[in-house]
Amino acid sequence: MTALEKLFENNRKWSGEMSKTHEGFFEKLSCQQKPEYLWIGCSDSRVPANELIGLLPGEVFVHRNVANLVIHTDFNCLSVIQYAASVLKVKHIIVCGHYGCGGVQEALENQSHGFINNWLRHLRDIYHTHADYLDAVGDPGKKVDRLCELNVISQVKNVCRTSIVKEAWKRGQDLTVHGWIYNIANGLLNDLDISVSAPGQVEQITGDAFARVCK
Ligand code: CO
Repeated sequence: MTALEKLFENNRKWSGEMSKTHEGFFEKLSCQQKPEYLWIGCSDSRVPANELIGLLPGEVFVHRNVANLVIHTDFNCLSVIQYAASVLKVKHIIVCGHYGCGGVQEALENQSHGFINNWLRHLRDIYHTHADYLDAVGDPGKKVDRLCELNVISQVKNVCRTSIVKEAWKRGQDLTVHGWIYNIANGLLNDLDISVSAPGQVEQITGDAFARVCK
């Protein structure tokens, strides 16, 4: 059996088991999805959204890219946020970074990896904003992890600043943006305590969070 044939076999097994343990699972899902969460995470293969929060298909809407960035000109990410907030009406948007993120590390090392350097440039910008603090962090691994945290805070801020989220709040919609970070080394999530549920909270909550990291 080839490696890819193995994947199809895995899939048939999984489908069979899901049908056995959850009656009518696929029939129900084929009619609609009603997730309460939007997950914006890193593409890293070690950070699978559904699995690490124990949610089944249909329970979390997911967008992943390298280093979980929310860029104001990225129509892909913005379309996901728009559909999640305006159509699915998710109640929570979770930006989840992870320690030891390769994208963050590459951005700090600033070597050329081709096209992706354009994407990682956004992380360089965050690094430059906090360079005084980050350059004083001696341990290179810790420096990466602090930038991982600063990145999550920055992306939470970016989500809150989108016209999509601002309009949802204006409509009185129940929507909270969260910033979490996942530890690949022990499989645990940490809440960075930056949950924002109204436009007036954005600056204070993210400002306090930046100060907590760069203390
Ligand atoms: Co990553």
